[in-house]
Amino acid sequence: MKKALVLYHSLFGNTKKVAASLAAGISEKGIKVDCVSIEEIDIDLIPNYDFLAIGGPTHVIGLSKEMKKFLNRLKTLNLKGKKGFSFDTRNHSRMNSRRWLLIENSASKRIESKLKKMKIKPIIPRMSSIVIGREGPLESGVETAMFETGRKIGRLLAS
Ligand SMILES: Cc1cc2nc3c(=O)[nH]c(=O)nc-3n(C[C@H](O)[C@H](O)[C@H](O)COP(=O)(O)O)c2cc1C
Repeated sequence: MKKALVLYHSLFGNTKKVAASLAAGISEKGIKVDCVSIEEIDIDLIPNYDFLAIGGPTHVIGLSKEMKKFLNRLKTLNLKGKKGFSFDTRNHSRMNSRRWLLIENSASKRIESKLKKMKIKPIIPRMSSIVIGREGPLESGVETAMFETGRKIGRLLAS
């Protein structure tokens, strides 16, 4: 049976919620999923998984300090050929933002590019979820959308 790992960093709990929705969706097709924070994961166990999703909050148009540190540790592992997915939360909506280019530099874009450097291929393109204000809550519908994304990933992993 395929094993998936959803890893997240979350300051105020919003990314943790979307990570849980993603994991619940992935598990629907019988994939075994663990959903763990980057602070709690035993890094040596990561190579045991077939699929790795990583998500965090967008901080200063990029990664949180904790995520940066974690991804530097991840680089020391050989994860070549695994499938991955990156996600983030942020508080700017593309639709009403004046600074489109800056906002494109979301945490998930950085995570995705770091995963690619480790030869981890995205199973589907990265995804951002919007929070209202700095501390949330999540915009309505975001958790359902992540659950659906998880189902899609679960189907791809099961096939
Ligand atoms: C130090 C800091 C910097 C932030 N910078 C950005 C930013 O550049 N762009 C953005 O859209 N949101 C930014 N935010 C909002 C975060 O993305 C938001 O707090 C996060 O999505 C909430 O997720 P969490 O509850 O998992 O921490 C920032 C928040 C903090 C605390």
